[in-house]
Amino acid sequence: MSQKHHTEGCQVTWPRRFYDCTLNEKLLYSSFLLLAGLAYLMALAYLYTSYNGIDGKPGLSVEDVAENYYGNRSGTRLESALRGPMSGYIDTEHRNHVIEWLKSGTSEADYERIIKPIFAERCVMCHSAASGLKIPDLSSYEGIKQVANVDTGVSLHSLMKVSHIHLFGIALVALGIGLVFRFALLPDWFQCTLTLLPFIAIFVDIAAWFLTKWDPIYAYTVIIAGGLLGLSWALQILISLYQIWFLRCRMTIESGGTG
Ligand code: HEC
Repeated sequence: MSQKHHTEGCQVTWPRRFYDCTLNEKLLYSSFLLLAGLAYLMALAYLYTSYNGIDGKPGLSVEDVAENYYGNRSGTRLESALRGPMSGYIDTEHRNHVIEWLKSGTSEADYERIIKPIFAERCVMCHSAASGLKIPDLSSYEGIKQVANVDTGVSLHSLMKVSHIHLFGIALVALGIGLVFRFALLPDWFQCTLTLLPFIAIFVDIAAWFLTKWDPIYAYTVIIAGGLLGLSWALQILISLYQIWFLRCRMTIESGGTG
């Protein structure tokens, strides 16, 4: 007989399972899990729309993640424009002058001497306040500097802001989902691993954001850890929802670890 009694003190207590929960508890847990799952899907959609195509190609890729945190150090917006959409407005020789100037540190003296005449002739008709277009103003040195800085990705400051919000938020959500999931009837090792996984994953994920700023190779870690977070939450939520509504107490089922 495995009649379950809740006993006080240090006598052996059976862990409660979902089938021990009242209807009220089951409704509470189910609603929380469903909303948390929805929130997670929303976060994924948001992530996709904000990362998608940073590197100029559609779809979310390792390059997008790397470029978000590390930036595109090999070039500037100006260089990308000159090699890409604006290439039709300039010939190769003049383009090389501009790119050399970018690589050599964008001195103001060289700007006046070499760059200003090129831009005045080829770019300023569109790229000035007078044109009324909402595009970078390239009629002055200051204007050009705006698009001539090396792209080093998201700033450390905003990374710290997003990190602490994520750490607080995700720790609480992981606690919430984990508190419900502890009622699941599963082998101890599996349940413990799955409970810990979101905490480890978010720690590794956020550490990898900072590492990716340093070396873009860690973009893989960001993606793998993010994927593990999603997978472990999906498993916790689906297993819990299933057991809440479908798992019946069978007298023959002995719970695994009763240490
Ligand atoms: C006929 C008008 C026109 C001319 C001439 C022109 N541009 Fe543009 N440029 C645009 C428009 C419109 C955009 C914004 C749309 C886009 O990015 O394609 C733009 C965008 C840009 C951008 C911003 C790209 C970004 O990262 O947002 C840069 C930099 C740029 N142009 C540089 C130049 C340079 C340098 C020249 C001269 C060699 C030049 N453009 C000539 C119309 C022009």
